[in-house]
Amino acid sequence: MVLVVERRDAKNGQPEILGVGRLSKLHGPNEAEFALTIGDQCQNHGLGTQLLRMLVQVGRDEKLERITATILPDNREMQHVARKAGFEVSHETGAGEVLAQLRL
Ligand SMILES: CC(C)(COP(=O)(O)OP(=O)(O)OC[C@H]1O[C@@H](n2cnc3c(N)ncnc32)[C@H](O)[C@@H]1OP(=O)(O)O)[C@@H](O)C(=O)NCCC(=O)NCCS
Repeated sequence: MVLVVERRDAKNGQPEILGVGRLSKLHGPNEAEFALTIGDQCQNHGLGTQLLRMLVQVGRDEKLERITATILPDNREMQHVARKAGFEVSHETGAGEVLAQLRL
């Protein structure tokens, strides 16, 4: 499932993609991974938080048991957004990343 944030340019009416959120079902377990990207000029306006909340709702609607993401340790912004959406964010693992997980 992919959610796209789009707006129309006020001058020329052309559509412009501001951000993308993806929820990818894993093979086997009843789980999915999320990934988010918001364009540099649109960050810190709440779009990432809103997209992640919508992806969580999709996961609930799909009756998934868990949603996860692996995040780089220095990506404090993504860890903060995940915590705000209810995810537990672990300490850095030996693999050099942190795990965000939400049981639904
Ligand atoms: C991570 C990302 C998706 C967040 O999207 P966004 O639209 O900027 O997020 P929001 O505006 O909803 O929220 C940003 C929050 O981070 C906080 N924040 C900003 N910089 C921060 C920092 N250095 N450390 C901690 N928190 C920070 C903001 O204060 C805000 O929190 P608040 O609403 O409680 O004040 C976006 O920065 C991005 O696309 N980054 C590059 C791609 C990436 O890292 N994706 C994650 C891979 S899963």
